[in-house]
Amino acid sequence: MCGIVGYIGFKEGLQVQEVILSGLEKLEYRGYDSAGICIYNDGIQIFKDKGRVAHLRTLVDNSLNSKLGIGHTRWATHGIPSQSNSHPHQSKTGRFTIVHNGVIENEMELREKYLEDYPFISDTDTEVIAALIEYFEENGEDVELAIRHVMGIIKGSYALGIVDSRTPDVFYAAKNKSPLLVGLGDGFNMIGSDAMSIIKYTNQFIELHDEEFIVLKSDSVSIYSILGAKIERTPYTETLDASDTEKGIYPYYMLKEIDEQPYAIRRIVAKYFTDTDYNINPNIVEVLSNTDRIYIVAAGTSMNAGFVGKQLFESIAKIPTEVHIASEFVYNTPLISKKPLFIFLSQSGETADSRAVLVKIKKLGYKSLTITNVKGSTLSREADYTLLLHAGVEIAVASTKAYTSQIAVMAILAANEANMDVSFLKTQLALVANIIETITDNKLIYKELADKYLVKRNCFYIGRHVDYYVAIEAALKLKEISYIQTEGFAAGELKHGTIALIEQGTPVIAIISQENINLNTRSNIKEVKSRGANVIVISLKSLSSATDQVVIDDVDPILAPLVTIVPTQLLAYYAALGRGLDIDKPRNLAKSVTVE
Ligand code: G6P
Repeated sequence: MCGIVGYIGFKEGLQVQEVILSGLEKLEYRGYDSAGICIYNDGIQIFKDKGRVAHLRTLVDNSLNSKLGIGHTRWATHGIPSQSNSHPHQSKTGRFTIVHNGVIENEMELREKYLEDYPFISDTDTEVIAALIEYFEENGEDVELAIRHVMGIIKGSYALGIVDSRTPDVFYAAKNKSPLLVGLGDGFNMIGSDAMSIIKYTNQFIELHDEEFIVLKSDSVSIYSILGAKIERTPYTETLDASDTEKGIYPYYMLKEIDEQPYAIRRIVAKYFTDTDYNINPNIVEVLSNTDRIYIVAAGTSMNAGFVGKQLFESIAKIPTEVHIASEFVYNTPLISKKPLFIFLSQSGETADSRAVLVKIKKLGYKSLTITNVKGSTLSREADYTLLLHAGVEIAVASTKAYTSQIAVMAILAANEANMDVSFLKTQLALVANIIETITDNKLIYKELADKYLVKRNCFYIGRHVDYYVAIEAALKLKEISYIQTEGFAAGELKHGTIALIEQGTPVIAIISQENINLNTRSNIKEVKSRGANVIVISLKSLSSATDQVVIDDVDPILAPLVTIVPTQLLAYYAALGRGLDIDKPRNLAKSVTVE
């Protein structure tokens, strides 16, 4: 959802353009409609255009010798992807140049109040910020006060990098709701929307909080509150390994991350068990034991993992559980039970829709637990408790290993609550890891199935019981990267209307992992077959029939989603590959959605 990076200073062998461009490449998962950079070299130089960072690279003048640069990669919210809407944006005299991640909700109001005849060049809300800084500076405020003044009157989210062309030995940053970190170097300092964009250059980081204003020089970083009070904050050492963010031998991150799932599951087992017991923060265990209802709040793939979580909490831990779309919950809040526990599922820990719910329920005094892959992320910092996924960095927009890791962590949490036998669960999870390995070792099957069947413009996944929840995620995976219109359907519900869409050759993929629904789902398969569908069946071995195309080794049925999802991830991957699409960066999407 837009990424920003900034650098000031000098380090032997480091060229500012390269620092900014390589940072932006790491941030492209956040948006890739357009990209731009500002370099100070005896004056401001801006290079920007719609398209990827790779395209921007071809525009940037490599001969420039500079000590200051800011950059941006965009996921369009205000205005189409175009050169003029690309960041950086400037104030009308060209004095202030800014990059922005976030959304200014009251931009129209601000335009009317302060900027009536202002010659705006772009359709973005960001240009309003640049214009306002200049407006207040022209009205007698010093630059720092002008920026803090603007921070005080804008409503919404922002991570900002701001350059004043008159003072190239300093640049400014500000943060509210959108993520931003400071990286401290020897002779230089940086900002970035995440650790990956900085880690190549330093592992010394400072965390920033909302409504903070930062002044960066090559040898100092000062943090202030919006009112100008100095804030002292101790840096921390980031443990992310720069090589974790590389694709290595893989053509796409998505395939790498699918393959990493067995390791992720094994790491979760290592983290959440001792030799003989569960290893979960006792405060979380206590809160869970005392709750009368769990509310899982999430978006996208994380929400789909939440449905499986509901199944786990209800069937294992016997705690009633509701799953809510984060963006709906904020404005249409359901009745809450007496002792609720809110679980925020989020790979990134930054999803604005989920965060809006967290802010709301905290005000109501309810307890919260975030299950996330990113240590120190906003949802992790702001919730009462955190459980980490330990899945390693996930970069492909289509989430895979975070989904299975979220389910594994929730299974352990539910099992702990139910005092489930530790060795049984550990053995089952070890089995899960091995089965996933078998699936990923035999990728050709999925390529052949995708090439043969996933050639129509629409497709259905069907399942009953927990297979229905997996079908929803499988459908999301296929549609988001292959653009095949896919629906995940409760197998028994299809006949109540949607079966009208089945035509000769429509692919229908059925998932069967639960004994009590095996025969019912097979009846539904017959119904679609007799209307012309091409059916692929993914089943567990003990429930399989001779004609099933994908038969997976048996695992305890409660953990079946951890294995049945994997073939569907591979089918999506190969369907997209067959269409020649950019698998890691599907159109119109971003991995981390930090606007509501
Ligand atoms: C975006 C991504 C999805 C992701 C969702 C929730 O829409 O494209 O892949 O599932 O955000 O993200 P989170 O980081 O909260 O899990």
